[in-house]
Amino acid sequence: MKHILEKLEAKRQEARLGGGAVRIEAQHARGKLTARERIDVLLDQGSFEEYDMFVEHRSTDFGMAEQKFAGDGVVTGSGTINGRLVFVFSQDFTVFGGSLSETHAQKICKVMDMAMKVGAPVIGLNDSGGARIQEGVAALGGYADVFQKNVLASGVVPQISMIMGPCAGGAVYSPAMTDFIFMVRDTSYMFVTGPDVVKTVTNEIVTQEELGGASTHTTKSSVADKAFDNDVEALVQLRRFFDFLPLNNREKPPVRPSFDNALRIEKSLDNIIPSNPNKPYDMHEVIEKIVDEGDFFELQPKHAGNILIGLARIDGETVGIVANQPMVLAGCLDIDSSKKAARFVRFCDCFNIPIITLVDVPGFLPGTAQEYGGIIKHGAKLLFAYGEATVPKITVITRKAYGGAYDVMASKHLRGDLNYAWPTAEIAVMGAKGAVEILYRKDKDDPAKIAEHTKNYEDLFANPFVAAQRGFIDEVIMPHSTRKRIAMGLKKLANKQLENPWKKHDNIPL
Ligand code: HXC
Repeated sequence: MKHILEKLEAKRQEARLGGGAVRIEAQHARGKLTARERIDVLLDQGSFEEYDMFVEHRSTDFGMAEQKFAGDGVVTGSGTINGRLVFVFSQDFTVFGGSLSETHAQKICKVMDMAMKVGAPVIGLNDSGGARIQEGVAALGGYADVFQKNVLASGVVPQISMIMGPCAGGAVYSPAMTDFIFMVRDTSYMFVTGPDVVKTVTNEIVTQEELGGASTHTTKSSVADKAFDNDVEALVQLRRFFDFLPLNNREKPPVRPSFDNALRIEKSLDNIIPSNPNKPYDMHEVIEKIVDEGDFFELQPKHAGNILIGLARIDGETVGIVANQPMVLAGCLDIDSSKKAARFVRFCDCFNIPIITLVDVPGFLPGTAQEYGGIIKHGAKLLFAYGEATVPKITVITRKAYGGAYDVMASKHLRGDLNYAWPTAEIAVMGAKGAVEILYRKDKDDPAKIAEHTKNYEDLFANPFVAAQRGFIDEVIMPHSTRKRIAMGLKKLANKQLENPWKKHDNIPL
């Protein structure tokens, strides 16, 4: 029997070599790890169980019958990250450039099916030249099968794409339908059509990096949620990110014990709001002082900086943070920030992650650029997302909450569970200057009268008490007790039950 066992081991060894030593060397020379090395970094040591190691393609055209590699360009299987189950596929660029064949797609679909069946996330490590050119429509069909699984898995298990090499053509649409896309700087890119086609069709001359590199997608397009410097950093950060997430939509996120006292008082927050209401402060500082150990995994940090989104923990429990950022565009809501936050709110709601909203918003950004771009529809996305969310929602207004933006930012009216305001909050239809200009147009040439009207308006509305009198604010809290209040609130809301009326699905403005 020994020789049979040896034969198996030899076959495995051969499969592990993928496209061979020369191509592995070329992969390393580009600063990239191989598909298997990436899995080794991502998963707990020794936890990976591979499936379909000996699957081969079935195509015969273009001399393909003579070119077969065990595994067919993708390594698939399951393993654990800090002890929690995950399904993984890792495309092997050393085999036909990681291109997707019919069988390669079937392998991906198989792990996705398994993940759905048992309720565990799927992580895709993408490094592929796209559809296997030699296979034609069989490869295109394979892609479509993966797309369909992405759709069905959406909202059932978390799906994460890590782009670690080329991702071109229709291939980009599978990552685009997953919950998060991360990229590696300088070695990965995503585009629907490459620079050559762009030049032919539009006469534009761009490099791959300019067209679809990590900097483009984390700043301009917002296709990617974050970028990392190299493969190892990307995979280590992915492990960190994974720890925040529940395994599926029936589970709560894991609780990680923390040394940070849940009832910690943070005195410095009492001085964070500048006395001049037009002066900004950094909302990152507020977030970092509230969450466990200052650990905030920010998403899309380089896109639409006027809103901050990301995951953190309070008293060990995962929370989604959405916060206006006064440092950028005074924290206004605009098209990009509304879209950015809306998708994140929906992700949190899918996966039972409570949402903490920190509000300092002077309103929606005015102007033709915004109106022509459809701010009405895009702003409505965030409104809709908050309104439909049934997870615990805790809101803290730190300073401005003006106009429609007050309503949008997880207000009481959108079923906010606990709505707090700092004493520095100003809750009104608009700022005093704008309001007085409209209400007292006749006095516009009398600065003394305008000053008096402005003061009256400020006295009346530049505080949280009018809203508190109506019960729109549950409590005006001291800034230093914000963490404590949120931690206590989360405990209270742990068994929250709220269901939306039955429907096939809603029709969010897209
Ligand atoms: C088959 C492929 C391939 C593909 C690369 N290879 N892409 N084989 N099908 N799509 C092979 C190459 O022949 C080569 O094999 C090896 O992978 C490495 O490729 P190189 O070109 O040497 O590498 P590099 O210079 O780094 O360039 C990588 C690349 C380039 C930019 C990805 O290969 C490329 O442009 N490939 C084609 C991309 C493309 O147009 N794909 C189809 C997109 S349309 P050897 O044997 O020499 O190692 C699409 C439709 C999806 O995907 C539709 C879904 C709806």
